[in-house]
Amino acid sequence: MARILITGASRGIGRATAVALGGKGHEVIATARDVSMLDDIPAAQKLQLDVTDQASVDAALARAGRVDVLLSNAGSTVRAPLETIPLDAVRDLFELNCFGALRVAQGVLPQMRERGSGQIIFMSSIQGRFVIPLIGTYGAAKQALEAFAETIAIEAGHFGVSVHVLQPPAVTSGGAERAQVYLDDDNPYRPLLDKLGPFRAAPVSVEQVADAVAATIDAGSEAAFRIPIGETAKSILAARKAAPDDALFLAAPLAW
Ligand SMILES: NC(=O)c1ccc[n+]([C@@H]2O[C@H](COP(=O)([O-])OP(=O)(O)OC[C@H]3O[C@@H](n4cnc5c(N)ncnc54)[C@H](OP(=O)(O)O)[C@@H]3O)[C@@H](O)[C@H]2O)c1
Repeated sequence: MARILITGASRGIGRATAVALGGKGHEVIATARDVSMLDDIPAAQKLQLDVTDQASVDAALARAGRVDVLLSNAGSTVRAPLETIPLDAVRDLFELNCFGALRVAQGVLPQMRERGSGQIIFMSSIQGRFVIPLIGTYGAAKQALEAFAETIAIEAGHFGVSVHVLQPPAVTSGGAERAQVYLDDDNPYRPLLDKLGPFRAAPVSVEQVADAVAATIDAGSEAAFRIPIGETAKSILAARKAAPDDALFLAAPLAW
């Protein structure tokens, strides 16, 4: 059984995965910005960890000790056209989804490299491979995250560390509904918001994502690098793969 550190375990996918992995007998180190949010999770260890704060990450990892698997899950999204999104909102999103994820990975990599084993699983999204208008900042952050992940996979793979990115479509976590929306009624891009419904249709459950995490841990280094979750993710990513790279993917269905 593995010792698994999960970031963003207070709610949503992180919480469901902490519960599911604990139920399978793994030693879960559940972490959250507000550790009291973990009170009702039956984890082996519960630690305060804010991925945007180096001192918080250092302190949590010092207390965690051995980490066999890092589930880098903490993240959020935002909705706004790139013409009008406040740049601070873009910075904050990258700070959490990219730099935060890299910061925690940097924290566990030395011990994994020295042991010659370990697994890092990054929670990406189908948007790690294409962009959806009004959510492009998130897509950009997830694509940067996948570039970090692919680089670490090659660099640290040499030392026995395996790296994977999970790509869920819409998830029933409530995370998307918590997105900060920068779209006043008079914003000229507002009508585009009505086009996004299909991307929230047929969401996968947090339990399905937790199952995918568990299967990735079971498969270890044999697991694929990119792992789409559910049929919606598989079909849209297959369509993206088949589409020409020199044209705009999704431009026609999202014309307005
Ligand atoms: N929901 C979707 O449709 C969907 C689809 C594809 C991929 N994903 C990805 O799945 C992951 C989890 O999302 P979710 O849907 O479960 O969202 P969620 O329910 O909003 O959970 C996000 C988690 O991240 C934590 N977090 C936020 N800022 C943090 C920070 N600075 N340090 C540590 N933790 C922090 C939150 O903690 P607090 O309680 O402290 O805010 C919360 O535990 C994200 O990476 C997201 O991009 C989600």
